[in-house]
Amino acid sequence: MSTKPIGMFDSGVGGTSILMELHTLMPNENYIYLADSKNAPYGNKTKEEILQLSVKNSKLLIEKGCKIIVVACNTATTNAISHLRSNYNVPFIGIEPAIKPAALHSKTKAVGILATKGTLSSDLFHNTSSLFTSGIKVIEQVGEGIVPLIEAGKLYSPEMEELLKSYLEPMLSQDIDYLVLGCTHYPYLIPILNSILPREVKIIDSGLAVARQTQTVLKTRSLINKSQQKASVKLFTNGNLDVLKSILADKFETSYLDF
Ligand code: SIN
Repeated sequence: MSTKPIGMFDSGVGGTSILMELHTLMPNENYIYLADSKNAPYGNKTKEEILQLSVKNSKLLIEKGCKIIVVACNTATTNAISHLRSNYNVPFIGIEPAIKPAALHSKTKAVGILATKGTLSSDLFHNTSSLFTSGIKVIEQVGEGIVPLIEAGKLYSPEMEELLKSYLEPMLSQDIDYLVLGCTHYPYLIPILNSILPREVKIIDSGLAVARQTQTVLKTRSLINKSQQKASVKLFTNGNLDVLKSILADKFETSYLDF
């Protein structure tokens, strides 16, 4: 058993969608979350830059005593997780787009995936995707501009709606029945996406699967927190604190940290 915190990081506020899933499944655990909003978006950066940022965030979480690190960012997972796993002595959990369940359940045999350039161009994404999508048309769309709008506090804005419509149109014209969200910022778009998509198109994200996987690893390594003390959830941002507060509706403790 370990009362040490679960560490998480993302290129900004998006990975809090994963934090919510973890906290719902494991409310007893302590959490430390780093929102690297100063460096958002990661999606257009080079592999080397993403690696450096992921190492910086992981080192800080390890210094803060985290027992496991959830890389709550698809772009950082696809570009840096193998390096992190081979260089640091804590378990790392990554996020991959839920392309497998979408491909398995699609009736139209067409699925859309919205993700960053960094994720869609990575070997990890291509290798996983090709394993599960034989006979399925996969319509890939780079979500250029979405993360900057969310990080600027413009989640619900006319610009966002226009952008999403332009990304979904080509997918809808190819008859998708599943839309895979391949970036942890995107679950916050679900209300807007639902207002644009026809009812028969289902949206899939990876949050619950990641939370379950984290729980399994903690159990396997006897790291589950069995303490009855009230757990703490601490979030740090190096960007705009108000944006983080508003996305969380002030649910958890947030502060500014220059990292
Ligand atoms: C980004 O920073 O571009 C998005 C992060 C992600 O892929 O989850």
